[in-house]
Amino acid sequence: MRKSAALRRVEAAGIAVPVSTMRAPVQVPRYLEQTYWWAYVHPNAVKVFERQWLVNLILWGNYARLRNAVFDELHSPVAGRVLQVACVYGDFTEMLAQHLGPHGKLDVADVAPVQIDNLARKLNGSPRVAIHHQDSADLAFPDATYDSVVLFFLLHEQPESVRARTVAEALRVVKPGGKVIFVDYHGPRRSNPFRYVMLPILKWLEPFAMDLWRREITDWLPPAVQPARVEKRTYFGGLYQKVVITR
Ligand SMILES: C[S@@+](CC[C@H](N)C(=O)[O-])C[C@H]1O[C@@H](n2cnc3c(N)ncnc32)[C@H](O)[C@@H]1O
Repeated sequence: MRKSAALRRVEAAGIAVPVSTMRAPVQVPRYLEQTYWWAYVHPNAVKVFERQWLVNLILWGNYARLRNAVFDELHSPVAGRVLQVACVYGDFTEMLAQHLGPHGKLDVADVAPVQIDNLARKLNGSPRVAIHHQDSADLAFPDATYDSVVLFFLLHEQPESVRARTVAEALRVVKPGGKVIFVDYHGPRRSNPFRYVMLPILKWLEPFAMDLWRREITDWLPPAVQPARVEKRTYFGGLYQKVVITR
């Protein structure tokens, strides 16, 4: 099977590349090319956005709080296998890797070659983190592989049909009793002034995000999946949410 250019670059950087990536080259989805080319696909995107202060500003100063809300669910030191679906600008993955205990292992999957290159550079060859060129809507990992699966601000970027497949895939690859941890946008309270600031921004730049203002993440669960537990917490006047689904 022919290896993608991104995969060849990841291997050249000395990052562990598992067999699961040896599939047909993964294509950048149309919504990412059309709607988010400026943020994630164009090589200059990384030069602009890979700044901790900027990603923190985009989240109105909540980056560390929301990042740490994920880590709280993982119970450091992390002993099992964690999958992070989609790269994140800023120090999210490097910090997550620091929470790994001696038997912990982190996999990160992303569909954009530019983002894979950027993460490989940030991780600088960390032996316990593997990067996979994969689409969240069609993960190559076997069922029930992971103790925890993390999706940090991914769902709001995806059209509904892709989002539903991403949620289904996250639930498929987590072990029974394991957690899928979503952090994403949420419909803020009417009394929250950021509601009126974010409404035009999201409508203009992130057209699929409004779905998360109107609907619950559990709405995109496959009908056959009956989670053992669902916990939801909101942050910053309801603009953000963490939803933890225990399989
Ligand atoms: C997690 S989201 C946004 C996170 C956050 N806004 C930040 O600071 O980066 C961005 C990432 O999602 C990835 N992504 C989008 N659609 C994807 C898909 N279908 N499969 C895998 N990764 C995807 C993009 O390539 C990008 O690296």
